[in-house]
Amino acid sequence: MKLIESLKWRYATKRFDDSRRISTEDLGTLMEATNLAASSFGLQPYRVLVVEDPAVKEQLREASYNQPQLTECSHVFVFAAKRDMSPEYIDSYVDRVAEVRNVPRENLDGYAEYMKGSVAGKDLESVTTWNQRQAYIGLGTLLAAAAEMGIDTCPMEGFDVAAYDRILGLEAQGLTATVIAPAGYRSPEDATQDHTKVRFPVEEMFTTV
Ligand SMILES: Cc1cc2nc3c(=O)[nH]c(=O)nc-3n(C[C@H](O)[C@H](O)[C@H](O)COP(=O)(O)O)c2cc1C
Repeated sequence: MKLIESLKWRYATKRFDDSRRISTEDLGTLMEATNLAASSFGLQPYRVLVVEDPAVKEQLREASYNQPQLTECSHVFVFAAKRDMSPEYIDSYVDRVAEVRNVPRENLDGYAEYMKGSVAGKDLESVTTWNQRQAYIGLGTLLAAAAEMGIDTCPMEGFDVAAYDRILGLEAQGLTATVIAPAGYRSPEDATQDHTKVRFPVEEMFTTV
């Protein structure tokens, strides 16, 4: 599929075919694609839970205004942003850069200090919001990758954040649920798939300066 065709094909799926499961191989590709999303400084200040346990999905459905996607889909991707940005986390990222690029860690000390300094001036709420913005880039990458693979998704914010944090034990991990994407295969009975996609004209959305 070409990208534009894939993006026209995808839609926010309301009803999934609950008999179909994403294969382990495709799940791995979705994870890899999502992991390749851009993030500020490359810090990836969020984690993604992939929920397949029917009992957990049932609890998440209750915490999502009973939206059926939660139990009918194959897997629920939960983007959970970090609540803070500690110097230790920045160091762990810089350690990773040193390892992957095979450069001495001390060569990157200035870079680490620069990042720590840029975070130090922000209050906790701003840091959490900044982290959450990065999670949304991951979401967008997942939606596009899934569409390319013929896998349906539904981006969702309609859920009780505190309940998700409790059900998935996120607070103890320094995380908070931010946005989710049930993924799987559309039900032939989902009438939404026949709705014409509505977007403002490109000329209205974009201005060339
Ligand atoms: C951040 C975000 C939150 C959304 N929350 C929900 C939701 O809770 N439930 C739902 O059915 N759709 C949800 N949607 C789907 C949108 O309604 C849908 O993407 C939009 O109407 C455009 O339609 P399309 O994605 O089918 O092209 C959400 C979409 C985004 C991007």
